[in-house]
Amino acid sequence: MKKAIVLGSINYDIVSAVERLPVKGETVKSYSTDMFVGGKGSNQAVQISMLGMKVQFIGQVGNDDMGKTVKACLKEKGVDTGGLNVSDAFRTGCATIFVDPAGDNMLAYAPGANHGISFEQIKQSAGSITNADIFITQNEINMDAMAKGLSAAKEAGVPTILNPAPAIPLDGEIYRLIDYITPNETEAEVYTGIPLGSLPFAEWKKQSAKWFLDRGVKAVCITLGNKGSYFSDGINEYDVSAFLVNAVDTTAAGDAFNGGFAYGVAHKMPIVRCIEIGNACGALAATVLGAQNSIHNIDQIRGFLSERSIEI
Ligand code: RIB
Repeated sequence: MKKAIVLGSINYDIVSAVERLPVKGETVKSYSTDMFVGGKGSNQAVQISMLGMKVQFIGQVGNDDMGKTVKACLKEKGVDTGGLNVSDAFRTGCATIFVDPAGDNMLAYAPGANHGISFEQIKQSAGSITNADIFITQNEINMDAMAKGLSAAKEAGVPTILNPAPAIPLDGEIYRLIDYITPNETEAEVYTGIPLGSLPFAEWKKQSAKWFLDRGVKAVCITLGNKGSYFSDGINEYDVSAFLVNAVDTTAAGDAFNGGFAYGVAHKMPIVRCIEIGNACGALAATVLGAQNSIHNIDQIRGFLSERSIEI
């Protein structure tokens, strides 16, 4: 069985289904408010686990009720939580999310324990990192821990993925530790400073990917919502169409994409197939309200792809 290491965030999500997204100073009606387990890291871990891989999660929660809940849920989904530290110094990360009837969302994130991951903790998991088939991380944890994890994986020749979400400036030396970077179009704009619309779309994709490649990243996959995904490693480039579904809530759709993409890379599948699996995971996640609870399993993903004549 292939093994993934996910170094990342784990949050308690409070999700309100609102009649529309509020503007500054406005109160809007909410049809429902629910609590879900989330965090980009733990969502990605759950997607990879539900695809049938062994997953070890490295992260941190607070010593509080939210932490107990999210840890138990991660375990329930088959993720190894041996690398999940419980901190007395921080509270569990928490996200407050508004979702409108079109499935668009707004999100405020309090990182809490996610920003206190220590080098010691990464060191303790170093053995597992070096034995993995894939290593994936995101930007919701402290950057020094993220860099340390990437560096341990890279040194051991384990393929690395950075999902650069949310978009925050990265230390220059991090780029060369990344085999695959997976920004969405907004994140790509923030990093590169090349606004969408400032160039013809095909040129925008090429130049945006080049920006990352020039900094030492091996390959770039820009996710473009219903416009699909664009991949470039500087030699090969591919446009892969999205699967169109009735989106109810896009929260965690990007995480599901990353989980599916990581699964494909870990299994050394052709890159287009990795992206198709990611696209299927993301599309199906968008059909359900919530984060981790919207993630589908291997049979559902296989069935969805098979209906579109793609066999995995
Ligand atoms: O990508 C979605 C996730 O972002 C949510 O689960 C929330 O916790 C935030 O981290």
